[in-house]
Amino acid sequence: MTSGKREKIVLAYSGGLDTSVAIRWLQEKYNLDVIAVGINVGQPPSSDDIVARALRNGAIKAEFIDAKEEFVNDGIWPSLKANAMYEDVYPLCTAIARPIIVRNLVQIAQREGAKYIAHGCTAKGNDQVRFDVGIVSLDPSIGIIGPMREWVMTREEEIDYAQKNGVEIIVKKENPFSVDENLWGRSCECGVIEDAWQEPPKEAWAWTVEPTEAPNEPEYVEIQFEKGIPVAVNGKKMDGVQLIEEVNRIAARNGVGRIDHVEDRLVGIKSRETYECPAAMVLTQAHRSLEFLTLQKDVLEFKKIVEQRYSQLVYNGLWFGTLRESIAAFVDKTQEFVTGTVRIKLLKGSLMVVGRKSPYSLYDEGLATYAKGDEFDHKSALGFIYCWGLPNKTAAKVHKKK
Ligand code: ARG
Repeated sequence: MTSGKREKIVLAYSGGLDTSVAIRWLQEKYNLDVIAVGINVGQPPSSDDIVARALRNGAIKAEFIDAKEEFVNDGIWPSLKANAMYEDVYPLCTAIARPIIVRNLVQIAQREGAKYIAHGCTAKGNDQVRFDVGIVSLDPSIGIIGPMREWVMTREEEIDYAQKNGVEIIVKKENPFSVDENLWGRSCECGVIEDAWQEPPKEAWAWTVEPTEAPNEPEYVEIQFEKGIPVAVNGKKMDGVQLIEEVNRIAARNGVGRIDHVEDRLVGIKSRETYECPAAMVLTQAHRSLEFLTLQKDVLEFKKIVEQRYSQLVYNGLWFGTLRESIAAFVDKTQEFVTGTVRIKLLKGSLMVVGRKSPYSLYDEGLATYAKGDEFDHKSALGFIYCWGLPNKTAAKVHKKK
């Protein structure tokens, strides 16, 4: 480091205990000027002005960026079009927010001439990989520091450090879980959830009502899509952020969106986590069912394969990679005619698609019907079946001789 003028580091800052302590720790340990950057991807607001507090805690600059719209357009919609579900279960809410956060951090580092970026991820999770690999993918010249990977402070020791060093923190009642929230969902791990046999306790859930306490009458919701992107709820056009918030509310009050999963982390550990993703569950189901109506069978089958790969790439921190981007381009092409409306019935934690329509529907009642007006050419079935079964028939004759 040069003497005199200090190098700068951009810190991914949430206002919580870890990153508040990190402001001081980075100054002391690495002799760096800290620029604290909070990025809003739809997490609940802090009880105080975290920008002002970062400055009082010694950051030379602090800002809070609203990236919700960017998150929706560049993170959520591409993943929804790909029906992204890691291990067919987890809608990747945490994973898809990371690239958006990373992109903002890198842009700020470049603008501020900062040589380093710091984040508060631990050494056991996927998020550190998503940050580190994301950063080097966008700007390989930036160095990365992960204070939580380096220091060995417990929560109590962090509070102690803060008090001794005059770091102003908001000590909340200790949350027994580790939680990450954004527009697309809420991830929850640690504490009693670590026992994979125990049902998650009530306190693990925060967004959704207990299904048994949800209304006894079903609630119907209609989602309108244009080229694979949701644009209206119950006939009302909304922008993406509003739309997701609205569907989150509707599904959550019906107890829909809870997920309990034992998943495979990239670092080789299996971990038990719970998720609440009301909008993600509703919109993904709705989107898939509209695809079933509007896409041809071979496209559906092939897309299913690449969707799985897409989900793995996103989970494993390779968002800014050629394969993820190329699959996204393929997926975009498939969405040309994924336009229409889906009706969903929500009841006490359950979710069911009960209607779908599209100007590009490939469902042809004239072909499908068993009633009057049938247009299917019945005679053709015989010729088709003759050809279709011919390989098996030929083989059976040959094999019988042996
Ligand atoms: N396991 C999920 C993922 O890797 C969520 C991690 C969320 N982090 C947390 N502190 N709960 O995407």
